Amino acid sequence: MGRLDGKIAVITGGASGLGAGTAQRFVEEGATVTITDIQHELATETAETLGCSYIHQNVVSETEWEAVIAKIVGQYGRLDVLVNNAGVFATAPVDEMTIDVWQRVMDINVTGVFLGCKHGIRAMKNNPDGASGSIINLSSVSGLRSQPGGTAYNASKGAVRLLTKTVALENASIGIRCNSIHPGIIETPILDPVYAASGDPAAARAGIASTIPMKDLGEPARDIGNMAVYLGSDESVYVTGAEMVVDGGLTIGLPS
Ligand SMILES: NC(=O)c1ccc[n+]([C@@H]2O[C@H](COP(=O)([O-])OP(=O)(O)OC[C@H]3O[C@@H](n4cnc5c(N)ncnc54)[C@H](O)[C@@H]3O)[C@@H](O)[C@H]2O)c1
Repeated sequence: MGRLDGKIAVITGGASGLGAGTAQRFVEEGATVTITDIQHELATETAETLGCSYIHQNVVSETEWEAVIAKIVGQYGRLDVLVNNAGVFATAPVDEMTIDVWQRVMDINVTGVFLGCKHGIRAMKNNPDGASGSIINLSSVSGLRSQPGGTAYNASKGAVRLLTKTVALENASIGIRCNSIHPGIIETPILDPVYAASGDPAAARAGIASTIPMKDLGEPARDIGNMAVYLGSDESVYVTGAEMVVDGGLTIGLPS
């Protein structure tokens, strides 16, 4: 028995990183998974490797959200789990942050999650056996505390944290749950620009690891995928509006 047997799941930004790691664990636990992404070739490859479906989607477009949800409900008759994972990173001090970068981060990280919640809730309210489902939003430890350069990224992840609680509260009495995951530093392509800027990726990775109490970066499937399996499964039926921190101890204090 898989922990997600019979569940119909959609994971945005599933071509790489945490989305792909989550899709892997969902498939292993028996879910029927559709990943969405803007990276067409990579997403097609990932879907083939993992044994799931892929729909091209820009999470910023409401029309595309309507099309994705209509396709899922048309094909499978229901939506059980939505993982709003697609996101981008940017760093610049507030007095150097451009309006274009700010807007792009807000569009993808906040508006994309809002649209997912809006259309995900509409579908889940209409599930054939009554309202049910689980929405999982990817925030970050950057949604819990600040850091220099976090102008847009931290603001966006803080917004996701509280949007999650509003969605959770509005739908708690009808059995639709909404929780946020707050990863620390997980090894994914989102770190590539950080490594590239350092000139010495191995040294940069070691430097990052030394700031984490557990002394290593997290792994997509093991750390975030497994948390998402818990939140997507019926094991978490009494959990809503919660902040699930998965960070190797990053937010509890300085490493020894
Ligand atoms: N990796 C980390 O350390 C970390 C830590 C905290 C939070 N997060 C969050 O986890 C999520 C996944 O990050 P990741 O590390 O896997 O990054 P990633 O860059 O590997 O994956 C993000 C995916 O989102 C997709 N995407 C970007 N813009 C999109 C759009 N407009 N529409 C649809 N898809 C789009 C990308 O193509 C990519 O496949 C993000 O929300 C990120 O902010 C990551």
